This record gives sequence, structure tokens and C-alpha cells, in this order.
Amino acid sequence: MPYAAVLTGYGSPETLVWSQVTLPTPGPGQIRMRVHAAGVGPTDLKIRRGDLREVFPVPDPAVLGFEAAGTVDALGPGVTGVSPGDEVAAQLPTLGGYGEYALASAWAVKPGTVSWADAAALPASAEAAVGVLRQLGVSSGETLLVLGGAGSVGVIATQLAVAQGLTVFSATGPTDEQFVKDLGAIPVRYGSALLAQMRAHVEKVDAVFDAAGKGGLRDAVELAGGPARVITLADEHASDFGVALSEPTPDRAPDALEQTMPLLASGRLRLRAQRLLPMRDTPRRRTPSSKRARCTRSSF
Ligand SMILES: NC(=O)c1ccc[n+]([C@@H]2O[C@H](COP(=O)([O-])OP(=O)(O)OC[C@H]3O[C@@H](n4cnc5c(N)ncnc54)[C@H](OP(=O)(O)O)[C@@H]3O)[C@@H](O)[C@H]2O)c1
Repeated sequence: MPYAAVLTGYGSPETLVWSQVTLPTPGPGQIRMRVHAAGVGPTDLKIRRGDLREVFPVPDPAVLGFEAAGTVDALGPGVTGVSPGDEVAAQLPTLGGYGEYALASAWAVKPGTVSWADAAALPASAEAAVGVLRQLGVSSGETLLVLGGAGSVGVIATQLAVAQGLTVFSATGPTDEQFVKDLGAIPVRYGSALLAQMRAHVEKVDAVFDAAGKGGLRDAVELAGGPARVITLADEHASDFGVALSEPTPDRAPDALEQTMPLLASGRLRLRAQRLLPMRDTPRRRTPSSKRARCTRSSF
């Protein structure tokens, strides 16, 4: 029987226990992959702690992980265009990445130039970045503010928007200013001085992508001249400002991985640096527990 990091109760990282689980059988349209790396993001930590228990029930067995990369191992009925042995990455909307085997209903081929860690860190962040940029309806020549522009979602959104011909302001902490400059954005510091800093550059922006969910929506609405083109991924006070909270619905950006994987392979897209952790050691090392996202659990 294969192993997986099973969530045995809500709480600290020790609630993830490396245990034997049944080998999952791929259903119609699904592949099973032998997981080489799984992405760990802040939403996983919220689920593990129980913060989302009302809105996001965990599966049985409770194996977390919204994204993974691995080698195709078995095909379900009706699957074509992929073969056992192919290297792929997948977003896993119903979880299951933190194990030796995972099922996926949609996937993209992992080019040889993309590392397992990068391939596993891409799917969920790319889907959010592509999806929210679409929902904002941004276009060339416009000005965009990205809150959390140096985070896992924010760096992808920033680079896609810059490539699309937008002027991008990226709200970051002090250590990430050069990083976002290198991505083509104009750095501004998040926090209480954000509005003043933005006003030193521009009076208004066309849209705001809050890829952090850590406050700043009042300033965002002020800068965008209203909430219509402000979207947050995670701010629980969004409705107080009339701002839309974007959810990972199946129709948000189903093509995001196919779109961004070639950019990653050719070096036109960079990801946030990752921490690599052996999956079976993760609970013992009390990780992932920091707010810094996108560590990646590496090969077994
Ligand atoms: N709704 C969805 O579909 C969806 C999808 C993906 C992610 N999410 C959520 O979106 C959030 C971001 O995810 P992520 O993976 O990109 O996380 P991440 O990699 O941890 O990035 C978050 C970024 O926000 C920055 N930040 C911290 N405080 C800030 C503030 N006050 N103002 C602006 N930026 C601030 C952080 O900077 P420092 O390093 O300086 O702290 C970091 O760069 C998480 O809450 C996640 O759960 C939602």
C-alpha cells in the first residue's frame, strides 16, 4: 500500500501523519500519477488548521494538496493523449497531492527543462493569477496594482500583466523590492503608507488584484475609483468594501496551466523561490507552518 501525509485532525503540523492509504483507482477521464513533488500553499495551512472547515470539508482519507507533479502511472476509462511514464503537473481541486499517488482530472505535460518543484508549485497559483486577471478584464496600456506582488500568485500575475503591456505596481515588503523590479513592476511598500506612495506615482489605477488578502482594500478602492475592478483572493472583509472575492471555480481559468507551463519552460516566467522538504519528514519538522507559502514537498 502506498503512503500519504494524512490529516488526522485539525491543528498543528503534527496532525499530518505519514500513513498507509489505499492505492487510488482512476475514474473516467482521470489519470493516476506517481507524485514526485506537491505544492504547499497558504490555503493548505488554513485547511489544516481548521480555519476553512465550514466551507471546505476535507476528503476521506484526508490527504491535502491542491497541486502536484509526477509520472503518469495509470489511466482511467476514456483517457487519451497521455501514456504511463509521461511527466505531468496537475491542479487538484479536490485535493490529494500529499501522497505517493494522486488522481488528476486535468493536467499539462511537464517539459524536461522544468524542475519537479517548479512544476508542482505552478498549477494553483497560475490558475488564480490567470483567472483573476481575466475577471478584472485588464488590457494593454492599463495600470494595475498587485497587492502581494511578490507572493506565489502575485509574481505570476505581475509577469503576465507586464507581458500583456500593462504598467504594474507591485505592493511588497522591503526585501522584495528588487525582485519585483526585476519582473518589470514598479515596487511600492504595502501597509499604511501605500496610498501615499501610489499617489506619488499616479492618481488612479485601472484595476487592483489583491493577491495577499492582508488588508489594503480601502486604499485599493480609492485608487481604482470604486470596487468594480478590485478583486481579492483572500480578504475576509471584502464585502465591507463591495469588493469581489474570487474563488477557484472550474471555469475561472481551466487553461491556465497549459498557458503558463511553456512560459516557465522557456524562462519567460519565474516563480517565487521554494523550500524543498521531504514529504514524509514534514510533520516531524513542524512544517509547513510559516505564513510564507509555496514550499514544495520534494521527492520521496
Ligand atoms: N481564492 C483563491 O482562488 C485563492 C487561490 C490561491 C491562493 N489564495 C489565497 O491567496 C493568498 C495568497 O496566496 P499566495 O500563495 O500567493 O501566498 P504567498 O506566496 O504567501 O504570498 C503572499 C504575499 O503577500 C505579501 N503580504 C503580506 N502582508 C501584506 C500586506 N499587508 N499587503 C500586501 N501584501 C502583503 C507577502 O509578503 P511578505 O513575504 O513580505 O510577508 C507575500 O509576498 C493566500 O491567502 C491564499 O490562501 C486564494
